[in-house]
Amino acid sequence: MASTGRIEIDGKTHDFAVTEGTEGERAIHIEDLRAQTQCITLDPGYKNTGSCESAITFIDGEKGILHHRGYSIEDLASNSSFLEVAYLLIHGELPTQSEYEMFRSGVTIHTMLHEDLKDFFSAFPKDAHPMAVCSAVVAALSTFYPEDLDPNDSEQVMNSAERLIAKFPTIAAYAHKHSIGHPCLYPDNSLSYVENFLTMMFGTPCDEYEVDPVVARAIEMLLILHADHEQNCSTSTVRLVGSSHANLFASISAGINALWGPRHGGANQQVVEMLESIAEEGLTARQFVDRAKDRDDTSRLMGFGHRVYRNYDPRARVIKSSADDVLAKLGVDDKLLEIAIDLERIALEEDYFAERRLYPNVDFYSGVIFKALGIPVQSFTVLFAMGRLPGWIAQWMELHEQEQAIGRPRQIYTGPTSRKYTPIETR
Ligand code: ACO
Repeated sequence: MASTGRIEIDGKTHDFAVTEGTEGERAIHIEDLRAQTQCITLDPGYKNTGSCESAITFIDGEKGILHHRGYSIEDLASNSSFLEVAYLLIHGELPTQSEYEMFRSGVTIHTMLHEDLKDFFSAFPKDAHPMAVCSAVVAALSTFYPEDLDPNDSEQVMNSAERLIAKFPTIAAYAHKHSIGHPCLYPDNSLSYVENFLTMMFGTPCDEYEVDPVVARAIEMLLILHADHEQNCSTSTVRLVGSSHANLFASISAGINALWGPRHGGANQQVVEMLESIAEEGLTARQFVDRAKDRDDTSRLMGFGHRVYRNYDPRARVIKSSADDVLAKLGVDDKLLEIAIDLERIALEEDYFAERRLYPNVDFYSGVIFKALGIPVQSFTVLFAMGRLPGWIAQWMELHEQEQAIGRPRQIYTGPTSRKYTPIETR
């Protein structure tokens, strides 16, 4: 039987339909609230606002569960590949062998950048942050493919989606190469997605570059772990921009900018910088945790806390458990990992973190492992964006399939009430 939610305002009751998701989550439909009551809901930061119904990703933040299309993140991280997860997110099902081959070759043929697009990189300062470069170059893709920008044409959208997934590793590698003054290598389509990225990132025209399979598998796993995370800040940005019927490239470029912030994906860079500064200043983990608890100190324990998880982030658990193994295989004895483990242990014993239910999130250990794999610190969030691309694309497509209205929140106005303009000489 359909449930109803009842709201009472000024002694008058109003009934609203209640929707239940497949995992039992419930929501009250308040679309008619203002029409019925002249009230809106006020929820700064959207802490309790559902912006859509979605069949892509399920998170149970209390239990620390993350599923994509029904498959657990642990299952996908151990058994799948990044392109297969991309297919799953975008198409809703795991591909058959032939569907996979078609998708893989559809992506692979687009790995090269237009020669004129390559000129963009040399126009940026050498110390430009690669997230800024990536967002600008992704936005610029819309100038090179004007024939594929109609958000209501599924063939054009798929062309843009494949181009984005294919070209992003090339863009990411070129952003890095430009920053160190090295020539950019062309993609090699005989390599896998991750091998190709690593070769463009670290190879040079002078020497043959051999991809370390341990590094390639670890990057593959990290990309899978970042592939989607329902309605977070950057995904909501992608959806919001997409809801205006802006094209896919423009929407994804906006998502890259949202991800860059230190409270979101930019935290992976911040975590390593925090760990390095703890090591440099010779602080103990306890001293830093005390700082993070102190309201008069602006330091936060980066990589801790999450809007949805009130438990250990399952992605952090996977990364932590593979960090030891990957570092041992690479022969890296990492002081930063030791500091991170110490910080986690001490923080989890503290009432401050327990009361606020703050646990390590995906960024707490990902930076440590990215660093051990040789990824430059400034490119950590770029790797996050590379992983998140299929999620953003799938969410953007779902928004269009659902023919959702333009995203446009309301507000409660708190400024001056109506007043008359006074000429400048009389003010
Ligand atoms: N260190 C110390 N205190 C913290 C931390 C932290 N990392 N995170 C939250 N708190 C405290 C806040 O000061 C606040 O305390 P108060 O109730 O005494 O005022 C309380 O916990 C609630 O924090 P909010 O910021 O209100 O929680 P919100 O859900 O808005 O923010 C966020 C979540 C942004 C992730 C926050 O926990 C944070 O800034 N963490 C550090 C940055 C980080 O790791 N970001 C990556 C998140 S994962 C991702 O986006 C991929």
